[in-house]
Amino acid sequence: RRTPDACVLVIFGVGDLTQRKLLPALYRLAMEGELNPNFSIVGVGRRDWSDEGFRDFAEDSVKTSKETGDFDQQTWDGFQEGLFFVGGPFDQTETFRKLKEKIEEVSRQRDTGGNVLFYLATPPSVFAPIAELLGEQGLQEEGDGFWRRLVIEKPFGVDLESARQLNAHIHQTWEEHQIYRIDHYLGKETVQNLMAMRFGNVIFEPLWNRQYIEHIQITASEDLGMEGRGAYYEEAGIMRDMLQNHLMQMFSLVAMEPPANFDANAIRDEKVKVLKSITPIPKERVAEFAVRGQYGKGTLYGENVAGYREEKGVNPESVTPTYVALKLEVNNWRWQGVPFFLRTAKRLPKKVTEIAVVFKNPPSDIFPNKAERNVLAIRIQPDEGMSLKFNSKVPGQDNYLREVVMDFKYDAFGQLTGTPYGRLLLDSMLGDATLFPREDEVELAWQLVDGILEAWKEPAPEFPNYKAGTWGPDAADDLLGPNRRWRRL
Ligand code: BG6
Repeated sequence: RRTPDACVLVIFGVGDLTQRKLLPALYRLAMEGELNPNFSIVGVGRRDWSDEGFRDFAEDSVKTSKETGDFDQQTWDGFQEGLFFVGGPFDQTETFRKLKEKIEEVSRQRDTGGNVLFYLATPPSVFAPIAELLGEQGLQEEGDGFWRRLVIEKPFGVDLESARQLNAHIHQTWEEHQIYRIDHYLGKETVQNLMAMRFGNVIFEPLWNRQYIEHIQITASEDLGMEGRGAYYEEAGIMRDMLQNHLMQMFSLVAMEPPANFDANAIRDEKVKVLKSITPIPKERVAEFAVRGQYGKGTLYGENVAGYREEKGVNPESVTPTYVALKLEVNNWRWQGVPFFLRTAKRLPKKVTEIAVVFKNPPSDIFPNKAERNVLAIRIQPDEGMSLKFNSKVPGQDNYLREVVMDFKYDAFGQLTGTPYGRLLLDSMLGDATLFPREDEVELAWQLVDGILEAWKEPAPEFPNYKAGTWGPDAADDLLGPNRRWRRL
């Protein structure tokens, strides 16, 4: 187990993400003894707070979070001593001058050796200005024995062009090795386990190819609607909010070739290679490969819920998709002819993320009833685990087959430790970029998304086309083609 260097974490933005995810994750790291004892945080935001004000905000966030477990006063007392605050707008030099002074003061007082991790938990429109203004104060400059790093939240741009611009802009002051782009799905144990499962065993990899696999389904379904994020979502939609990042990352890990070792770049090189092997979808054929949807009102868990167009911050005639099902083809020796079906949406009947590898039928049919396809289902969340469905003989005179299931649950390890954000924060303090998408990965994912969004500009879709609390538009079934159906989750 590695303990990170002492450092100051500067969090820009004291909104939802900081309150609901970052501070609870950091406090939990403190409880688990994962942080350096001198670890300190400087919050930066528009509020007119003293250090005390930020400590109250953090205490509230830690106490109300479900991710922190029981509140431990002693851990909290130690943790809160390292919390500081600087108030000011993100686009003014003055804020950054004050921040620089604060960092110097905290570094001295808490003996953090000059290491600083900057975390941009702000709206994306200020990513580039903040990176630049930090540079103006020389805050990105590393020195003998100390580091400076920049963690950037998603969405990284809104399309390929803006992602490229953002990369270029940030690179004017920051070097690629200093940049950590967050995709919190990579912080999930079960997503990381994809590599362990594939490359830490011999029994799966020989089957992991076009000879044995019929198709693969990757589903990330959410029951939640907008939760007050309507205005953001109007711009993002499902493609930018989930597909470009979380789904494409899971796809890469399932489809990539084995890396030479666990080096960040060895793994990212393989992810990039498979992203480059995706067959481009011609604009005029997008309808054969992608189905979009938007939820109307419906019922969920027995309650009536509003349609997307009725949500706060949403245009009543919005054409923003809240559902997408996508077929990807990969043009390489391993995957030629094996379609990958990705689907993700808001307001489906339940929250579940799963990767299902569906195997081919046996080549000969000698039983009285037909053998079902074997399925390896990797449950990312909830009920983390993996199950293998195969056929077995029903006891008795006839050779009837029936599906049976072999199941592994993560509970076998005891409770899942840590939070995805905790893991990624820790890795960025340790300087381990393995679980952070590189700029070329991000750009390749945008390229795919851009092509689809471009084709969807016209004609306007007939939305809403699925009821909240159902599994999405009917057209998604046709996308699969004959003899395939979406997994019932
Ligand atoms: C975020 C999206 O990145 O991921 C949200 O912005 C979504 O819209 C969330 O709800 C899902 O994450 P998780 O970890 O709850 O599956």
